[in-house]
Amino acid sequence: MNKIWKLSVIIVSVVKEFIVEKFNIKKMTIRELIDNQRDGWSLDQRFYTDPEIYQLELEHIITQNWIFVGHESQIPNEGDFRVINVANESAIIVRTKDGTIKAYANVCRHRGSLVCLEDQGTTRRFSCPYHGWVYNLDGELTAARNMPDDFDKSDFSLFELSIDILYGLVFVCFSDDPPSWKGAKKDLEVPMKMFDFENLKVAAEKTYEIEANWKLSIENYQECYHCATAHPEYAKMHTLMLDDSKRDRVQSHMLERMEECGIENIEIDYIDTKARDGEQGYGYSRTALFKGRKTGSKNGEPVAPLLGKFSDYDGGASDFCLGPFTFMLAYSDHVVVYVFSPIDHNNSECRIYWLVRSDAEEGKDYDTEKLVWLWDHTTHEDKTIIVNNRKGVESKYYKPGPFSGMEDAESVYIQWILRELSAKI
Ligand code: FES
Ligand code: FE
Repeated sequence: MNKIWKLSVIIVSVVKEFIVEKFNIKKMTIRELIDNQRDGWSLDQRFYTDPEIYQLELEHIITQNWIFVGHESQIPNEGDFRVINVANESAIIVRTKDGTIKAYANVCRHRGSLVCLEDQGTTRRFSCPYHGWVYNLDGELTAARNMPDDFDKSDFSLFELSIDILYGLVFVCFSDDPPSWKGAKKDLEVPMKMFDFENLKVAAEKTYEIEANWKLSIENYQECYHCATAHPEYAKMHTLMLDDSKRDRVQSHMLERMEECGIENIEIDYIDTKARDGEQGYGYSRTALFKGRKTGSKNGEPVAPLLGKFSDYDGGASDFCLGPFTFMLAYSDHVVVYVFSPIDHNNSECRIYWLVRSDAEEGKDYDTEKLVWLWDHTTHEDKTIIVNNRKGVESKYYKPGPFSGMEDAESVYIQWILRELSAKI
């Protein structure tokens, strides 16, 4: 009797679990999940694992905001192009005949094949590899074999994407009604000119695939609570993981040096700019490196010629934030651009660009290996901790935890995501 009782208890619990799973009984709605989110705590597991939430993010966040796709100097001549993939989307960015840069959805207007399969190159036309439809640099369909007499090629141009250029930095948005860069163009003019962004070039570019939801990758970038434990090399260089009181002395030394080096001290709080309706958020600040460190390199010594208005090394590093996916770290002699994008709901990508002065010569003025060392090394470390984070977050024992005082930016970032989602459901 006891055995039969035990067996029936097991059967009932298995059936119950099956029904709950199958029919989503007790599963909170996304609205309830957002409303239940505690301010200053990490997100519920489902924000990292639920394909339904990812779908909402795709529609309302990922395709609605600007993402960096390269520096205009990467496609200097007519026909030069780059292809950038973001989640389900693929964009062709090309220099057209009249010298302007345009972006097109990399999707054939015949039956939808990807049109361009190369990452970059130079061409006079894009020829679809499936049935051979041909598009010119303006995205117009110029050839399509065996189509009916009434077929009008002018109805089948490639779809044009929103594109904008900020001081040489090219951004694409997969929305016809993208947020405005008006505030960023105005407020960032001084720092952008300080580094002379328009006259930089890409010295190196690397892509890191991360087996984790895109938010885990960006959240990790947003906080330096982990820096002391996870990045021993970076921790010798940057003072970001110190609390404000400990950073004060070295920060005031840098401020004095900035003046001597001809550099202005500006601070733009990302939180304020995010609140502006219809505008893309942005931010800027400069933080001291540890004493004696001139730039972000293995030993803190210069790795390239000084940028823009710098007359000498001030011992600082500037953080730029340009929308939700693009972040930059600008040293006195080079800039590192980080672009995070989703691949799918379980995988993301971090693409890093290293920028130096356009007239700097490899081998003479900079050594690429030395230039990329610190952030290549640090990003490999980040990749490991992000994937470990993902593995723990997927466990049934994961519960949201409280942020420390050094995770404010991450906290603000996820609140912004929740607000964006909340407004659309
Ligand atoms: Fe491109 Fe057919 S899908 S030519
Ligand atoms: Fe890190």
